[in-house]
Amino acid sequence: MDERLSIASKNILITGGLGFIGSALARRLVELGANVTLVDSLIPEYGGNLLNIAGIEDRVRVNISDVRDAHSMKYLMQGQDYLFNLAGQTSHMDSMAAPETDLEINCRAQLSILEACRQYNPAIKVVFASTRQLYGKPDYLPVDEKHLLRPVDVNGINKMAGEWYHILYNNVYGIRACALRLTNTYGPRMRVKDARQTFLGVWIRLLVEGKPFEVWGGKQLRDFTYVDDAVEAFLLAAVSESSNGQVYNLGGDCVISLKELAELLVEIHGDGAYSSREFPPDRKRIDIGDYYADDTSIRKTLGWAPAIPLTEGLSRTLAFYREHLPGYL
Ligand SMILES: NC(=O)c1ccc[n+]([C@@H]2O[C@H](COP(=O)([O-])OP(=O)(O)OC[C@H]3O[C@@H](n4cnc5c(N)ncnc54)[C@H](O)[C@@H]3O)[C@@H](O)[C@H]2O)c1
Repeated sequence: MDERLSIASKNILITGGLGFIGSALARRLVELGANVTLVDSLIPEYGGNLLNIAGIEDRVRVNISDVRDAHSMKYLMQGQDYLFNLAGQTSHMDSMAAPETDLEINCRAQLSILEACRQYNPAIKVVFASTRQLYGKPDYLPVDEKHLLRPVDVNGINKMAGEWYHILYNNVYGIRACALRLTNTYGPRMRVKDARQTFLGVWIRLLVEGKPFEVWGGKQLRDFTYVDDAVEAFLLAAVSESSNGQVYNLGGDCVISLKELAELLVEIHGDGAYSSREFPPDRKRIDIGDYYADDTSIRKTLGWAPAIPLTEGLSRTLAFYREHLPGYL
């Protein structure tokens, strides 16, 4: 039997559930029959959007609260079988401009979430959305989980602490937890109004609007995970006992330079143009250069593999925004 189906009758809490990846996870869980609660602060600058749950809004419970509110967390954790912990401040530049806000959300709140689990629901299983940003500028490629952690920005440091609190609570208190270090994740409902999530969203918006977009540098190598593939990884990590205490990289189906990616996007869209320019100095300081993941560990231990090729994923994403762009600006 597909182990993921065991989630069908379970109580699930998703922090950041109105965001891009959290809402995709909610869609899949509703489809599987789970009893899903979404927590999201809907802070306007961040990624939450009620449109992300269009079509499933009657099948999920939505709780608008902030993960920094320890009282809400204490209440919400109770009675849950699984916590998918995705709420986060995602912008690297914002983490430099407002480091303490990033600290409160990505680090301190993670500790109070885990404390709520320890005190009120120690049987819960937690899957944390971590990031490749923890590695900083890679010493070697592809980057495996043994690579030194050397973040290049405040966000990377706080996400690292958040991730390690989860592993610590697993190891010391037996609160079953694991973390997925996501690479660039893309797909329908990704953030396109600005580059707080990824540059790719802005490229897609400008293409759909018929405007040229900019490629900074262009030679950097990256990998991309289609959102449904990321969702499958969250489910596999949740239902597996061998994931407890583990961190896993997620990669994509291929490695591509930003210039090649720009060309592929224009080709798939059938129209459009881009220009190349040097990296702006403030971005360059926190840029990680080339990155792509070695995700052998999750492939071997949990049987995960990306199912959606980049071309297919980009074409689904462009199709979504040709129809829905106004709701995402
Ligand atoms: N998208 C990617 O490429 C990527 C890459 C690496 C890691 N991640 C991680 O995955 C997670 C989800 O990312 P996403 O791409 O869906 O981003 P997103 O911005 O769409 O989702 C994050 C959600 O968290 C919510 N949130 C932010 N602060 C909150 C708070 N204080 N209380 C409650 N809710 C709050 C936001 O409103 C948003 O809905 C994040 O933790 C992010 O760090 C994403």
